[in-house]
Amino acid sequence: MTKLLHSTCLLICISGVIGLAAAAAGHPGCKTRCGDVDIPFLFGIGDDCAIHKGFRLECNATKGTSNPKPFLGNFEVTKISMEDGKVWVKAYMSTQCYDQSTGGMSYNDASANLIGSSFWLSYTDNKVTVIGCQTLAYMTTDSYVIGCSSACDNKVNKLTPKNGSCSGAGCCQANVPKSIQYYQGYFNEGYNTTKIWMSSPCSYMAVMETASFNFSTSYLTSSVFYDTYKGVVPVVYDWAIITSKTCEEARRNKTSYACISNNSQCIDNLTNAQGYRCKCSNGYEGNPYIKDGCKDIDECLNNATYPCKGICTNTLGNFTCSCSPGSYMMNGDCMPKKKLRFDSVPVVVGASIVSVVLVITIMCVYLIKERRKLQLIKQHYFRQHGGLLLFEEMKSQQGVAFKIFSHEELQEATNRFNEQQILGQGGHGTVYKGLLKGNMEVAVKRCMTINEHQKKEFVSSN
Ligand SMILES: *[C@@H]1O[C@H](CO)[C@@H](O)[C@H](O)[C@H]1NC(C)=O
Ligand SMILES: *[C@@H]1O[C@H](CO)[C@@H](O)[C@H](O)[C@H]1NC(C)=O
Ligand SMILES: *[C@@H]1O[C@H](CO)[C@@H](O)[C@H](O)[C@H]1NC(C)=O
Ligand SMILES: *[C@@H]1O[C@H](CO)[C@@H](O)[C@H](O)[C@H]1NC(C)=O
Ligand SMILES: *[C@@H]1O[C@H](CO)[C@@H](O)[C@H](O)[C@H]1NC(C)=O
Ligand SMILES: *[C@@H]1O[C@H](CO)[C@@H](O)[C@H](O)[C@H]1NC(C)=O
Ligand SMILES: *[C@@H]1O[C@H](CO)[C@@H](O)[C@H](O)[C@H]1NC(C)=O
Ligand SMILES: *[C@@H]1O[C@H](CO)[C@@H](O)[C@H](O)[C@H]1NC(C)=O
Ligand SMILES: *[C@@H]1O[C@H](CO)[C@@H](O)[C@H](O)[C@H]1NC(C)=O
Repeated sequence: MTKLLHSTCLLICISGVIGLAAAAAGHPGCKTRCGDVDIPFLFGIGDDCAIHKGFRLECNATKGTSNPKPFLGNFEVTKISMEDGKVWVKAYMSTQCYDQSTGGMSYNDASANLIGSSFWLSYTDNKVTVIGCQTLAYMTTDSYVIGCSSACDNKVNKLTPKNGSCSGAGCCQANVPKSIQYYQGYFNEGYNTTKIWMSSPCSYMAVMETASFNFSTSYLTSSVFYDTYKGVVPVVYDWAIITSKTCEEARRNKTSYACISNNSQCIDNLTNAQGYRCKCSNGYEGNPYIKDGCKDIDECLNNATYPCKGICTNTLGNFTCSCSPGSYMMNGDCMPKKKLRFDSVPVVVGASIVSVVLVITIMCVYLIKERRKLQLIKQHYFRQHGGLLLFEEMKSQQGVAFKIFSHEELQEATNRFNEQQILGQGGHGTVYKGLLKGNMEVAVKRCMTINEHQKKEFVSSN
Protein backbone atom coordinates (compact mmCIF):
# COMPACT_ATOMS: atom_id res chain seq x y z
CA MET A 1 0.00 0.00 0.00
CA THR A 2 1.62 3.16 -1.12
CA LYS A 3 -0.02 6.43 -0.51
CA LEU A 4 0.80 9.13 -2.94
CA LEU A 5 0.60 12.33 -1.03
CA HIS A 6 1.00 15.53 -2.91
CA SER A 7 0.52 18.13 -0.33
CA THR A 8 -0.63 21.42 -1.75
CA CYS A 9 0.51 23.73 0.92
CA LEU A 10 -0.68 27.27 0.56
CA LEU A 11 0.97 29.84 2.70
CA ILE A 12 0.30 33.48 3.00
CA CYS A 13 3.63 34.89 3.91
CA ILE A 14 3.27 37.75 6.26
CA SER A 15 5.88 39.37 8.36
CA GLY A 16 5.04 39.04 11.99
CA VAL A 17 5.23 42.75 12.61
CA ILE A 18 1.95 44.42 11.91
CA GLY A 19 2.55 48.11 11.66
CA LEU A 20 0.40 50.58 9.84
CA ALA A 21 1.67 51.92 6.57
CA ALA A 22 3.21 55.31 7.13
CA ALA A 23 1.06 57.27 4.75
CA ALA A 24 -2.40 55.87 5.41
CA ALA A 25 -5.69 56.20 3.63
CA GLY A 26 -6.65 56.15 0.00
CA HIS A 27 -3.19 56.83 -1.39
CA PRO A 28 -2.97 58.69 -4.61
CA GLY A 29 -1.42 56.53 -7.25
CA CYS A 30 -2.70 53.28 -5.80
CA LYS A 31 -4.88 51.12 -7.97
CA THR A 32 -8.42 50.61 -6.73
CA ARG A 33 -9.22 47.85 -9.15
CA CYS A 34 -7.56 44.71 -10.46
CA GLY A 35 -9.22 42.99 -13.38
CA ASP A 36 -12.89 42.68 -12.42
CA VAL A 37 -12.36 43.11 -8.69
CA ASP A 38 -12.70 46.37 -6.72
CA ILE A 39 -9.91 46.81 -4.19
CA PRO A 40 -11.05 49.14 -1.39
CA PHE A 41 -8.41 50.59 0.87
CA LEU A 42 -7.33 48.53 3.79
CA PHE A 43 -6.40 46.22 0.98
CA GLY A 44 -3.98 47.61 -1.54
CA ILE A 45 -1.95 46.52 -4.54
CA GLY A 46 1.77 46.67 -4.13
CA ASP A 47 3.96 48.53 -1.67
CA ASP A 48 2.47 51.06 0.74
CA CYS A 49 -0.97 50.81 -0.75
CA ALA A 50 -2.50 48.55 1.88
CA ILE A 51 -3.10 49.54 5.51
CA HIS A 52 -0.34 47.08 6.37
CA LYS A 53 1.51 44.26 4.66
CA GLY A 54 -1.09 41.72 5.71
CA PHE A 55 -3.65 43.33 3.38
CA ARG A 56 -1.28 43.66 0.46
CA LEU A 57 -2.47 42.08 -2.77
CA GLU A 58 -0.66 41.33 -6.00
CA CYS A 59 -2.36 42.08 -9.27
CA ASN A 60 -0.86 39.50 -11.57
CA ALA A 61 -1.46 38.66 -15.18
CA THR A 62 -2.85 35.15 -15.54
CA LYS A 63 -2.48 32.58 -18.23
CA GLY A 64 -5.32 32.30 -20.67
CA THR A 65 -6.98 35.65 -19.92
CA SER A 66 -6.04 39.20 -20.69
CA ASN A 67 -7.52 40.34 -17.37
CA PRO A 68 -5.13 40.39 -14.44
CA LYS A 69 -6.31 38.93 -11.14
CA PRO A 70 -5.66 39.98 -7.57
CA PHE A 71 -3.90 37.53 -5.28
CA LEU A 72 -3.62 37.35 -1.52
CA GLY A 73 -0.50 35.26 -1.10
CA ASN A 74 -1.24 32.35 -3.42
CA PHE A 75 -5.00 32.68 -3.22
CA GLU A 76 -6.87 34.37 -6.00
CA VAL A 77 -9.28 37.01 -4.61
CA THR A 78 -12.65 37.23 -6.33
CA LYS A 79 -14.54 39.69 -4.13
CA ILE A 80 -14.06 41.98 -1.15
CA SER A 81 -16.94 43.14 1.04
CA MET A 82 -16.19 46.15 3.25
CA GLU A 83 -19.61 46.00 4.84
CA ASP A 84 -19.37 42.40 6.04
CA GLY A 85 -15.60 42.31 6.58
CA LYS A 86 -15.23 39.33 4.25
CA VAL A 87 -13.01 38.39 1.36
CA TRP A 88 -13.71 35.63 -1.16
CA VAL A 89 -10.72 33.61 -2.31
CA LYS A 90 -10.14 30.41 -4.26
CA ALA A 91 -8.51 27.51 -2.46
CA TYR A 92 -7.53 24.03 -3.55
CA MET A 93 -9.71 21.02 -2.96
CA SER A 94 -8.45 17.61 -1.82
CA THR A 95 -8.91 14.63 -4.13
CA GLN A 96 -8.74 10.86 -3.78
CA CYS A 97 -8.79 9.05 -7.13
CA TYR A 98 -8.38 5.52 -8.37
CA ASP A 99 -5.21 5.21 -10.42
CA GLN A 100 -5.65 2.65 -13.19
CA SER A 101 -1.93 2.43 -13.90
CA THR A 102 -1.07 1.34 -10.36
CA GLY A 103 -4.38 -0.17 -9.31
CA GLY A 104 -4.18 1.90 -6.12
CA MET A 105 -5.45 5.23 -4.94
CA SER A 106 -3.75 8.55 -5.54
CA TYR A 107 -4.16 11.40 -3.10
CA ASN A 108 -3.96 15.13 -3.28
CA ASP A 109 -4.44 16.57 0.18
CA ALA A 110 -4.91 20.34 0.22
CA SER A 111 -4.09 22.54 3.13
CA ALA A 112 -4.17 26.22 4.04
CA ASN A 113 -2.20 28.17 6.57
CA LEU A 114 -3.30 31.65 7.59
CA ILE A 115 -1.56 31.67 10.96
CA GLY A 116 -0.16 35.11 11.70
CA SER A 117 -2.40 36.74 9.10
CA SER A 118 -5.46 38.93 9.58
CA PHE A 119 -7.75 36.29 8.07
CA TRP A 120 -9.88 33.40 9.36
CA LEU A 121 -12.11 30.85 7.78
CA SER A 122 -15.61 32.27 8.13
CA TYR A 123 -17.49 29.69 10.17
CA THR A 124 -20.84 31.08 9.06
CA ASP A 125 -20.18 31.01 5.32
CA ASN A 126 -18.13 27.85 4.78
CA LYS A 127 -18.60 24.14 5.29
CA VAL A 128 -16.36 21.10 5.07
CA THR A 129 -17.89 19.39 2.05
CA VAL A 130 -17.15 15.76 1.14
CA ILE A 131 -18.21 14.10 -2.11
CA GLY A 132 -17.83 10.38 -2.74
CA CYS A 133 -19.41 6.95 -2.83
CA GLN A 134 -17.20 5.30 -0.26
CA THR A 135 -15.47 8.13 1.46
CA LEU A 136 -14.42 9.29 4.89
CA ALA A 137 -12.67 12.64 4.66
CA TYR A 138 -11.84 15.33 7.15
CA MET A 139 -9.79 18.38 7.87
CA THR A 140 -7.46 18.54 10.81
CA THR A 141 -6.74 21.84 12.50
CA ASP A 142 -4.70 22.78 15.56
CA SER A 143 -7.41 21.51 17.84
CA TYR A 144 -10.09 19.75 15.79
CA VAL A 145 -10.69 16.93 13.37
CA ILE A 146 -13.78 17.77 11.33
CA GLY A 147 -15.21 15.64 8.60
CA CYS A 148 -17.90 13.22 7.58
CA SER A 149 -18.46 10.04 5.61
CA SER A 150 -20.44 9.64 2.46
CA ALA A 151 -21.82 6.50 0.78
CA CYS A 152 -23.90 5.76 -2.31
CA ASP A 153 -24.80 2.14 -1.56
CA ASN A 154 -28.32 2.48 -0.24
CA LYS A 155 -27.90 -0.72 1.78
CA VAL A 156 -25.46 1.25 3.90
CA ASN A 157 -27.37 4.45 4.47
CA LYS A 158 -30.81 3.73 2.99
CA LEU A 159 -30.49 6.81 0.81
CA THR A 160 -29.66 7.40 -2.80
CA PRO A 161 -27.72 10.44 -3.97
CA LYS A 162 -30.02 13.25 -5.03
CA ASN A 163 -29.33 16.45 -6.93
CA GLY A 164 -29.31 19.45 -4.62
CA SER A 165 -29.10 17.35 -1.42
CA CYS A 166 -25.93 16.85 0.62
CA SER A 167 -26.87 14.71 3.59
CA GLY A 168 -24.76 11.56 3.53
CA ALA A 169 -25.76 9.99 0.22
CA GLY A 170 -22.92 10.74 -2.18
CA CYS A 171 -22.25 13.98 -0.33
CA CYS A 172 -21.94 15.20 3.25
CA GLN A 173 -21.10 18.42 5.04
CA ALA A 174 -19.70 19.43 8.42
CA ASN A 175 -19.59 22.84 10.07
CA VAL A 176 -16.38 24.80 10.28
CA PRO A 177 -15.48 25.75 13.87
CA LYS A 178 -14.71 29.34 14.86
CA SER A 179 -11.26 30.86 14.62
CA ILE A 180 -9.69 28.41 12.15
CA GLN A 181 -6.54 29.70 10.47
CA TYR A 182 -4.98 26.40 9.54
CA TYR A 183 -6.24 23.13 8.13
CA GLN A 184 -4.98 20.04 6.39
CA GLY A 185 -7.27 17.78 4.37
CA TYR A 186 -7.19 13.98 4.74
CA PHE A 187 -8.90 10.87 3.45
CA ASN A 188 -9.23 7.70 5.49
CA GLU A 189 -7.58 5.08 3.25
CA GLY A 190 -9.83 2.32 4.54
CA TYR A 191 -12.59 4.02 2.57
CA ASN A 192 -11.62 3.94 -1.08
CA THR A 193 -13.08 3.33 -4.50
CA THR A 194 -10.80 0.49 -5.64
CA LYS A 195 -13.82 -1.81 -5.96
CA ILE A 196 -16.21 0.70 -7.55
CA TRP A 197 -13.83 2.81 -9.65
CA MET A 198 -15.69 2.03 -12.85
CA SER A 199 -18.75 3.90 -11.63
CA SER A 200 -17.14 6.26 -9.15
CA PRO A 201 -13.41 6.90 -9.55
CA CYS A 202 -12.85 9.95 -7.32
CA SER A 203 -13.75 11.44 -3.95
CA TYR A 204 -13.34 15.09 -2.96
CA MET A 205 -13.00 17.15 0.17
CA ALA A 206 -13.27 20.93 0.07
CA VAL A 207 -13.56 23.63 2.69
CA MET A 208 -15.77 25.94 0.69
CA GLU A 209 -18.47 28.56 0.61
CA THR A 210 -21.79 26.86 1.38
CA ALA A 211 -23.77 29.18 -0.88
CA SER A 212 -21.78 28.32 -3.99
CA PHE A 213 -22.15 24.56 -3.61
CA ASN A 214 -25.01 22.58 -5.10
CA PHE A 215 -24.56 18.82 -5.20
CA SER A 216 -25.09 16.99 -8.49
CA THR A 217 -25.03 13.23 -8.87
CA SER A 218 -22.76 13.73 -11.86
CA TYR A 219 -19.98 14.74 -9.38
CA LEU A 220 -19.76 11.07 -8.36
CA THR A 221 -19.45 9.52 -11.77
CA SER A 222 -17.26 12.00 -13.60
CA SER A 223 -14.75 14.77 -13.05
CA VAL A 224 -17.44 17.47 -13.37
CA PHE A 225 -16.92 18.76 -9.81
CA TYR A 226 -13.19 19.19 -10.27
CA ASP A 227 -13.59 20.63 -13.75
CA THR A 228 -16.36 23.07 -12.75
CA TYR A 229 -14.08 24.71 -10.20
CA LYS A 230 -10.82 23.93 -12.02
CA GLY A 231 -9.63 22.39 -8.77
CA VAL A 232 -10.08 25.59 -6.75
CA VAL A 233 -13.23 26.31 -4.78
CA PRO A 234 -14.54 29.60 -3.37
CA VAL A 235 -13.83 30.11 0.34
CA VAL A 236 -14.88 33.04 2.52
CA TYR A 237 -12.43 34.59 4.98
CA ASP A 238 -13.27 37.07 7.70
CA TRP A 239 -10.70 39.72 8.46
CA ALA A 240 -9.92 41.98 11.39
CA ILE A 241 -7.39 44.55 12.50
CA ILE A 242 -5.49 42.25 14.83
CA THR A 243 -4.85 43.68 18.27
CA SER A 244 -5.30 42.75 21.88
CA LYS A 245 -6.85 46.16 22.45
CA THR A 246 -10.52 46.91 22.66
CA CYS A 247 -12.05 49.56 20.41
CA GLU A 248 -11.92 52.06 23.22
CA GLU A 249 -8.23 51.42 23.87
CA ALA A 250 -7.35 51.39 20.18
CA ARG A 251 -9.15 54.68 19.60
CA ARG A 252 -6.73 56.47 21.97
CA ASN A 253 -3.78 56.03 19.60
CA LYS A 254 -4.64 58.39 16.76
CA THR A 255 -1.78 57.14 14.58
CA SER A 256 -2.73 53.47 14.66
CA TYR A 257 -6.53 53.59 14.97
CA ALA A 258 -8.00 52.31 11.70
CA CYS A 259 -11.58 53.61 11.81
CA ILE A 260 -10.63 57.07 10.66
CA SER A 261 -13.69 58.14 8.68
CA ASN A 262 -16.18 60.39 10.42
CA ASN A 263 -19.47 58.63 10.92
CA SER A 264 -17.72 55.31 11.32
CA GLN A 265 -17.90 52.84 14.18
CA CYS A 266 -15.58 50.30 15.68
CA ILE A 267 -16.70 46.73 16.39
CA ASP A 268 -14.63 44.60 18.74
CA ASN A 269 -16.97 41.82 19.80
CA LEU A 270 -15.81 39.65 16.88
CA THR A 271 -16.63 35.98 17.25
CA ASN A 272 -13.86 34.73 14.99
CA ALA A 273 -10.84 36.83 15.82
CA GLN A 274 -9.17 39.00 18.40
CA GLY A 275 -9.13 42.54 17.14
CA TYR A 276 -11.57 45.00 15.72
CA ARG A 277 -13.23 45.99 12.50
CA CYS A 278 -14.64 49.30 11.31
CA LYS A 279 -18.02 50.01 9.85
CA CYS A 280 -19.89 53.06 8.66
CA SER A 281 -22.57 54.25 11.09
CA ASN A 282 -26.22 53.61 10.30
CA GLY A 283 -27.36 55.85 7.47
CA TYR A 284 -23.85 56.01 5.99
CA GLU A 285 -22.06 53.79 3.52
CA GLY A 286 -18.62 53.50 2.05
CA ASN A 287 -15.18 52.87 3.42
CA PRO A 288 -14.69 53.47 7.16
CA TYR A 289 -10.91 53.02 6.83
CA ILE A 290 -10.33 56.22 4.81
CA LYS A 291 -10.89 59.88 5.67
CA ASP A 292 -14.47 60.89 4.85
CA GLY A 293 -14.95 57.37 3.48
CA CYS A 294 -18.40 56.99 5.02
CA LYS A 295 -20.85 58.96 2.90
CA ASP A 296 -24.38 59.82 3.78
CA ILE A 297 -26.86 57.51 2.08
CA ASP A 298 -29.37 59.48 0.01
CA GLU A 299 -32.32 57.35 1.01
CA CYS A 300 -34.64 59.37 -1.23
CA LEU A 301 -32.97 57.92 -4.32
CA ASN A 302 -33.83 54.40 -3.20
CA ASN A 303 -37.58 54.26 -2.85
CA ALA A 304 -37.54 50.45 -2.73
CA THR A 305 -35.38 50.13 0.41
CA TYR A 306 -36.56 53.37 2.00
CA PRO A 307 -40.18 53.67 0.92
CA CYS A 308 -41.76 57.11 1.13
CA LYS A 309 -45.10 57.92 -0.37
CA GLY A 310 -44.91 61.56 0.64
CA ILE A 311 -42.18 64.17 0.30
CA CYS A 312 -38.82 62.51 0.93
CA THR A 313 -36.09 64.71 2.42
CA ASN A 314 -32.60 63.40 2.88
CA THR A 315 -30.86 64.33 6.13
CA LEU A 316 -27.37 63.46 7.35
CA GLY A 317 -27.55 59.84 8.42
CA ASN A 318 -31.29 59.60 7.90
CA PHE A 319 -34.24 60.94 5.94
CA THR A 320 -37.67 62.28 6.63
CA CYS A 321 -40.88 61.45 4.87
CA SER A 322 -43.51 64.14 5.21
CA CYS A 323 -46.80 65.12 3.63
CA SER A 324 -47.67 68.35 1.88
CA PRO A 325 -49.75 70.84 3.90
CA GLY A 326 -53.38 69.82 3.69
CA SER A 327 -52.63 66.14 4.10
CA TYR A 328 -51.43 63.98 6.94
CA MET A 329 -49.44 60.74 7.35
CA MET A 330 -51.38 57.57 8.05
CA ASN A 331 -49.81 54.11 7.85
CA GLY A 332 -47.00 55.50 5.74
CA ASP A 333 -49.36 57.11 3.30
CA CYS A 334 -50.45 60.72 2.86
CA MET A 335 -54.20 61.24 3.38
CA PRO A 336 -56.09 64.41 2.50
CA LYS A 337 -56.98 66.35 5.64
CA LYS A 338 -60.81 66.54 5.10
CA LYS A 339 -62.74 65.57 8.23
CA LEU A 340 -65.22 63.27 6.56
CA ARG A 341 -65.91 62.91 2.89
CA PHE A 342 -69.68 63.29 2.71
CA ASP A 343 -69.84 62.50 -0.98
CA SER A 344 -68.70 59.04 -0.10
CA VAL A 345 -71.17 58.54 2.77
CA PRO A 346 -74.19 57.55 0.64
CA VAL A 347 -72.03 55.06 -1.20
CA VAL A 348 -70.89 53.43 2.04
CA VAL A 349 -74.40 53.38 3.53
CA GLY A 350 -75.82 52.06 0.26
CA ALA A 351 -73.27 49.30 0.13
CA SER A 352 -74.02 48.33 3.73
CA ILE A 353 -77.77 48.13 3.12
CA VAL A 354 -77.28 46.03 0.01
CA SER A 355 -75.09 43.56 1.85
CA VAL A 356 -77.47 43.30 4.82
CA VAL A 357 -80.40 42.63 2.47
CA LEU A 358 -78.34 40.06 0.63
CA VAL A 359 -77.45 38.21 3.83
CA ILE A 360 -81.08 38.16 5.00
CA THR A 361 -82.25 36.88 1.59
CA ILE A 362 -79.71 34.08 1.61
CA MET A 363 -80.73 33.09 5.14
CA CYS A 364 -84.42 33.02 4.23
CA VAL A 365 -83.83 30.89 1.15
CA TYR A 366 -81.80 28.51 3.26
CA LEU A 367 -84.44 28.23 5.99
CA ILE A 368 -87.24 27.61 3.48
CA LYS A 369 -85.22 24.88 1.84
CA GLU A 370 -84.52 23.22 5.19
CA ARG A 371 -88.24 23.31 6.12
CA ARG A 372 -89.15 21.65 2.81
CA LYS A 373 -86.59 18.97 3.40
CA LEU A 374 -88.04 18.38 6.84
CA GLN A 375 -91.57 18.16 5.49
CA LEU A 376 -90.45 15.50 3.00
CA ILE A 377 -88.69 13.53 5.73
CA LYS A 378 -91.78 13.63 7.92
CA GLN A 379 -93.96 12.41 5.07
CA HIS A 380 -91.50 9.64 4.44
CA TYR A 381 -91.76 8.40 8.02
CA PHE A 382 -95.49 8.77 8.00
CA ARG A 383 -95.59 6.35 5.08
CA GLN A 384 -92.99 4.07 6.53
CA HIS A 385 -95.04 3.55 9.69
CA GLY A 386 -98.21 2.65 7.85
CA GLY A 387 -99.48 6.17 8.17
CA LEU A 388 -101.21 6.15 4.81
CA LEU A 389 -103.18 2.97 5.47
CA LEU A 390 -104.30 4.33 8.77
CA PHE A 391 -105.18 7.59 7.20
CA GLU A 392 -107.42 5.90 4.59
CA GLU A 393 -109.14 3.88 7.31
CA MET A 394 -109.74 6.91 9.43
CA LYS A 395 -111.05 9.00 6.55
CA SER A 396 -113.88 6.51 6.07
CA GLN A 397 -114.77 6.43 9.76
CA GLN A 398 -113.94 9.99 10.66
CA GLY A 399 -115.18 11.00 14.10
CA VAL A 400 -116.44 7.53 15.01
CA ALA A 401 -113.54 5.51 16.25
CA PHE A 402 -110.49 7.60 15.43
CA LYS A 403 -109.23 11.01 15.91
CA ILE A 404 -106.14 12.40 14.21
CA PHE A 405 -103.99 14.49 16.40
CA SER A 406 -101.53 16.93 14.99
CA HIS A 407 -97.92 16.80 15.98
CA GLU A 408 -98.34 20.12 17.81
CA GLU A 409 -101.26 18.75 19.86
CA LEU A 410 -99.22 15.72 20.89
CA GLN A 411 -96.26 17.90 21.79
CA GLU A 412 -98.45 20.02 24.00
CA ALA A 413 -100.04 16.96 25.60
CA THR A 414 -96.71 15.34 26.50
CA ASN A 415 -95.10 18.60 27.52
CA ARG A 416 -92.76 18.40 24.49
CA PHE A 417 -92.11 14.70 25.05
CA ASN A 418 -90.77 15.47 28.49
CA GLU A 419 -88.73 12.71 30.13
CA GLN A 420 -90.94 12.88 33.21
CA GLN A 421 -93.89 11.86 31.09
CA ILE A 422 -92.29 8.57 30.00
CA LEU A 423 -94.40 5.54 30.88
CA GLY A 424 -92.25 2.92 29.27
CA GLN A 425 -89.58 2.29 26.70
CA GLY A 426 -89.73 -0.52 24.15
CA GLY A 427 -87.69 -1.67 21.23
CA HIS A 428 -89.75 0.35 18.79
CA GLY A 429 -90.24 3.51 20.71
CA THR A 430 -91.07 5.36 23.86
CA VAL A 431 -94.52 5.63 25.43
CA TYR A 432 -95.43 8.98 26.99
CA LYS A 433 -98.26 9.90 29.27
CA GLY A 434 -100.15 12.79 27.77
CA LEU A 435 -102.96 15.11 28.78
CA LEU A 436 -105.12 16.42 25.97
CA LYS A 437 -107.30 19.46 26.08
CA GLY A 438 -110.39 18.59 28.09
CA ASN A 439 -108.30 16.61 30.61
CA MET A 440 -108.30 13.48 28.56
CA GLU A 441 -105.42 11.23 29.45
CA VAL A 442 -103.72 9.41 26.59
CA ALA A 443 -100.68 7.29 26.00
CA VAL A 444 -98.57 8.52 23.14
CA LYS A 445 -96.13 6.17 21.47
CA ARG A 446 -93.26 7.81 19.77
CA CYS A 447 -91.93 5.40 17.18
CA MET A 448 -88.34 4.67 16.56
CA THR A 449 -86.69 2.90 13.65
CA ILE A 450 -83.46 1.13 14.25
CA ASN A 451 -81.72 2.25 11.12
CA GLU A 452 -82.22 5.91 10.47
CA HIS A 453 -82.38 6.54 14.17
CA GLN A 454 -80.94 9.99 14.22
CA LYS A 455 -82.88 11.33 11.28
CA LYS A 456 -86.08 10.34 12.96
CA GLU A 457 -85.12 11.77 16.29
CA PHE A 458 -84.61 14.97 14.43
CA VAL A 459 -88.03 14.74 12.88
CA SER A 460 -89.77 13.95 16.15
CA SER A 461 -88.17 16.71 18.07
CA ASN A 462 -89.31 19.22 15.49
C1 LIG B 1 2.58 37.74 -8.78
O1 LIG B 1 3.63 38.44 -9.37
C2 LIG B 1 4.73 38.67 -8.47
C3 LIG B 1 5.72 39.54 -9.20
O2 LIG B 1 5.87 39.13 -10.51
C4 LIG B 1 5.30 37.35 -8.02
O3 LIG B 1 6.33 37.56 -7.12
C5 LIG B 1 4.20 36.53 -7.35
O4 LIG B 1 4.66 35.25 -7.02
C6 LIG B 1 3.01 36.41 -8.26
N1 LIG B 1 1.96 35.77 -7.50
C7 LIG B 1 1.16 34.82 -7.98
C8 LIG B 1 0.15 34.25 -7.08
O5 LIG B 1 1.26 34.44 -9.13
C1 LIG C 1 -9.15 0.10 0.12
O1 LIG C 1 -9.92 -0.21 1.29
C2 LIG C 1 -9.82 -1.56 1.71
C3 LIG C 1 -10.72 -1.72 2.92
O2 LIG C 1 -11.95 -1.20 2.63
C4 LIG C 1 -8.40 -1.91 2.05
O3 LIG C 1 -8.32 -3.28 2.37
C5 LIG C 1 -7.51 -1.64 0.84
O4 LIG C 1 -6.17 -1.85 1.17
C6 LIG C 1 -7.68 -0.21 0.38
N1 LIG C 1 -6.95 0.05 -0.83
C7 LIG C 1 -6.10 1.03 -0.97
C8 LIG C 1 -5.41 1.12 -2.27
O5 LIG C 1 -5.90 1.87 -0.10
C1 LIG D 1 -28.64 15.55 -11.68
O1 LIG D 1 -28.36 16.60 -12.58
C2 LIG D 1 -27.47 16.23 -13.63
C3 LIG D 1 -27.22 17.44 -14.49
O2 LIG D 1 -26.86 18.52 -13.68
C4 LIG D 1 -28.07 15.11 -14.45
O3 LIG D 1 -27.14 14.67 -15.43
C5 LIG D 1 -28.40 13.93 -13.54
O4 LIG D 1 -29.05 12.93 -14.26
C6 LIG D 1 -29.28 14.38 -12.39
N1 LIG D 1 -29.45 13.28 -11.48
C7 LIG D 1 -30.63 12.90 -11.01
C8 LIG D 1 -30.65 11.76 -10.05
O5 LIG D 1 -31.66 13.46 -11.37
C1 LIG E 1 -29.30 22.89 -7.47
O1 LIG E 1 -29.34 22.25 -8.72
C2 LIG E 1 -30.61 21.69 -9.04
C3 LIG E 1 -30.48 20.98 -10.39
O2 LIG E 1 -29.46 20.05 -10.33
C4 LIG E 1 -31.65 22.80 -9.10
O3 LIG E 1 -32.91 22.24 -9.33
C5 LIG E 1 -31.67 23.53 -7.78
O4 LIG E 1 -32.55 24.62 -7.85
C6 LIG E 1 -30.28 24.03 -7.43
N1 LIG E 1 -30.33 24.62 -6.11
C7 LIG E 1 -29.73 25.76 -5.81
C8 LIG E 1 -29.87 26.23 -4.41
O5 LIG E 1 -29.12 26.41 -6.65
C1 LIG F 1 0.52 54.39 18.47
O1 LIG F 1 0.72 53.51 17.37
C2 LIG F 1 1.95 53.68 16.70
C3 LIG F 1 1.97 52.78 15.47
O2 LIG F 1 1.59 51.49 15.79
C4 LIG F 1 3.11 53.38 17.68
O3 LIG F 1 4.34 53.54 17.04
C5 LIG F 1 2.97 54.28 18.88
O4 LIG F 1 3.93 53.91 19.85
C6 LIG F 1 1.60 54.19 19.50
N1 LIG F 1 1.44 55.20 20.53
C7 LIG F 1 1.07 54.89 21.77
C8 LIG F 1 0.93 56.05 22.69
O5 LIG F 1 0.84 53.75 22.14
C1 LIG G 1 -15.86 64.93 8.48
O1 LIG G 1 -15.17 65.67 9.43
C2 LIG G 1 -14.40 66.74 8.93
C3 LIG G 1 -13.71 67.41 10.07
O2 LIG G 1 -13.51 66.56 11.11
C4 LIG G 1 -15.30 67.71 8.21
O3 LIG G 1 -14.53 68.73 7.63
C5 LIG G 1 -16.06 67.00 7.14
O4 LIG G 1 -16.97 67.86 6.53
C6 LIG G 1 -16.80 65.83 7.73
N1 LIG G 1 -17.43 65.10 6.65
C7 LIG G 1 -18.67 64.68 6.73
C8 LIG G 1 -19.18 63.94 5.54
O5 LIG G 1 -19.37 64.85 7.72
C1 LIG H 1 -21.61 43.40 18.91
O1 LIG H 1 -21.95 44.69 19.35
C2 LIG H 1 -22.85 45.38 18.52
C3 LIG H 1 -23.06 46.76 19.05
O2 LIG H 1 -22.22 47.04 20.09
C4 LIG H 1 -24.18 44.61 18.49
O3 LIG H 1 -25.08 45.26 17.61
C5 LIG H 1 -23.93 43.21 18.01
O4 LIG H 1 -25.12 42.46 18.07
C6 LIG H 1 -22.85 42.55 18.86
N1 LIG H 1 -22.56 41.27 18.25
C7 LIG H 1 -22.38 40.17 18.99
C8 LIG H 1 -22.07 38.96 18.23
O5 LIG H 1 -22.45 40.19 20.21
C1 LIG I 1 -34.12 57.82 11.35
O1 LIG I 1 -35.26 58.50 11.86
C2 LIG I 1 -36.26 57.66 12.38
C3 LIG I 1 -37.45 58.47 12.78
O2 LIG I 1 -37.29 59.80 12.43
C4 LIG I 1 -35.71 56.88 13.56
O3 LIG I 1 -36.69 55.98 14.03
C5 LIG I 1 -34.51 56.09 13.10
O4 LIG I 1 -33.92 55.44 14.18
C6 LIG I 1 -33.49 57.03 12.46
N1 LIG I 1 -32.40 56.22 11.91
C7 LIG I 1 -31.13 56.49 12.14
C8 LIG I 1 -30.12 55.60 11.48
O5 LIG I 1 -30.77 57.41 12.84
C1 LIG J 1 -42.25 55.52 -4.00
O1 LIG J 1 -42.99 54.38 -4.43
C2 LIG J 1 -44.39 54.49 -4.14
C3 LIG J 1 -45.04 53.22 -4.60
O2 LIG J 1 -44.32 52.11 -4.17
C4 LIG J 1 -45.00 55.68 -4.85
O3 LIG J 1 -46.36 55.79 -4.47
C5 LIG J 1 -44.26 56.93 -4.44
O4 LIG J 1 -44.76 58.02 -5.17
C6 LIG J 1 -42.76 56.78 -4.70
N1 LIG J 1 -42.10 57.95 -4.18
C7 LIG J 1 -41.18 58.60 -4.86
C8 LIG J 1 -40.60 59.81 -4.19
O5 LIG J 1 -40.82 58.25 -5.97
